[in-house]
Amino acid sequence: MRITCRPDNLVVEASPLHTVLENLLNAGVRHAHACGGNAACSTCRIMILEGSEHCRSMTPAEKKLAERLDLPVHIRLACQTRITGDVTLQRLVLDREDVEVAQHQLRAQSMGSQVSAAILSASLRGMATFDEDNFPYDIVYTLGRYFTQMGALVQRYQGVLASHSGFKSLALFGLKNPQNPQDAVQQALQTGLALLESVANLNTTLRELSYPEVSLTLGIHYGPTILLNIDPQDPQRVSAFGKSVNFATWLESANGELSSQLLISAPVYRAVKEQLSQVQAHPVKPSPNAKTIQVYAVDPRQANLLPKEDSVTGSPLATTQPTGWLETLREWLRAWSRF
Ligand code: FES
Repeated sequence: MRITCRPDNLVVEASPLHTVLENLLNAGVRHAHACGGNAACSTCRIMILEGSEHCRSMTPAEKKLAERLDLPVHIRLACQTRITGDVTLQRLVLDREDVEVAQHQLRAQSMGSQVSAAILSASLRGMATFDEDNFPYDIVYTLGRYFTQMGALVQRYQGVLASHSGFKSLALFGLKNPQNPQDAVQQALQTGLALLESVANLNTTLRELSYPEVSLTLGIHYGPTILLNIDPQDPQRVSAFGKSVNFATWLESANGELSSQLLISAPVYRAVKEQLSQVQAHPVKPSPNAKTIQVYAVDPRQANLLPKEDSVTGSPLATTQPTGWLETLREWLRAWSRF
């Protein structure tokens, strides 16, 4: 029997008594096996391209590691796999960098996974004007306050911040309790409404100080999302991508055209429609060749969806009273005007 090995394009004579790893090493292939073939590192992983029916079932050790890393069925550990017929495989860990990635995935306990989540895409607009017209301290304080509030709200509603890029952010909800999409959608919506409220209050402060206002636009969608851990030191730091993420981002950007602040997709609307009183449906085409779909603009004044402590009257985040932050900013302005 033979193993056809890619990307090397080698054909190796194989013995059923040996594992794939042993067969490859015997044939002179320098195949990674950092733990020495003990199903502990996953650096020997291979993708079976053809002949999966000729692969013996997983050993208990392989099964354990595959479950821990959430490996798909066609990814096998060469050090644990024996074959009974011809197989074509792709070697996956080819250099030192690949070994580091594999070890990082092992620490994060995941190779990356697909989950269903509520995705909140947010964009703070108006900062460009700030940048040109005012000194940088304004930006630092305004952004600092916004991002602090966003982090606190996402955390409060059990979400995870997946990325920040400039003034755009992405948060995911439902990762901690994937069995309950209704809750995930509700949490994303509550976070969005509370964020809009907090930016409205931030604008009150900016007006008081005769600065241009900023605006926040949001898109919320629910769907399958691919998660990838991006920080070897922190397994909780993830990046999210996939069609659902792209659609949430598109929703956020479509607010400009529809003169709205918060757009939600049909799955989100279905999950929360009983609680929404002021929603306007819009037929839209996400791209010129796409079919027309319905999206929903939510009136941000639906604070009834927020728990009492987050409403305008009670929220420590939403206060319109002068705060330590505001006093500090005033100090900066006074100091600046003396130059
Ligand atoms: S060599 Fe480490 S898991 Fe196979």
